[in-house]
Amino acid sequence: MADNIRKIKDDSQLQELINGLNVDLANEYAASIMYTTYSSAVSGLSRAYLKPFFEDEITDEIGHAKYLADKIVTLGGVPTTVPAEVPYHTDVKKMLTEARDAEQDTIDRYEKRRKQAEELNLTELATKLEDLITDETNHRDELNRLLSDSRLS
Ligand SMILES: [Fe+2]
Ligand SMILES: [Fe+2]
Repeated sequence: MADNIRKIKDDSQLQELINGLNVDLANEYAASIMYTTYSSAVSGLSRAYLKPFFEDEITDEIGHAKYLADKIVTLGGVPTTVPAEVPYHTDVKKMLTEARDAEQDTIDRYEKRRKQAEELNLTELATKLEDLITDETNHRDELNRLLSDSRLS
């Protein structure tokens, strides 16, 4: 491939990656809003353990957002300031299901983003996305374990 054609292809791949990272960033902001809101909204007996559980997630998600915003700027993009939408629930099972599904969607997005980063030889980003996948997988698995509570069925 001629160098100039390769350059144009790399530029459009990079733009696609930046656009994807902005979707990820909007969803990390949404995740921190979701866990903040759910920690406030949860009531009943489950509040005793779910409030601290939700609160603990907030720090992780904000950390992810910070990393992504930095990386978008480093790659020459403009980081979004608009979070993805967060559905409000007061029912414990709905909260946990919403959060679990959001974590799974995030894992799927990061798998795709990791491949995009690898194609552009962005090794640090690809490696960091693996760490994010580990964090989100732990979040998803914890939520699944909470959802397996027989009182929620
Ligand atoms: Fe996250
Ligand atoms: Fe998460």
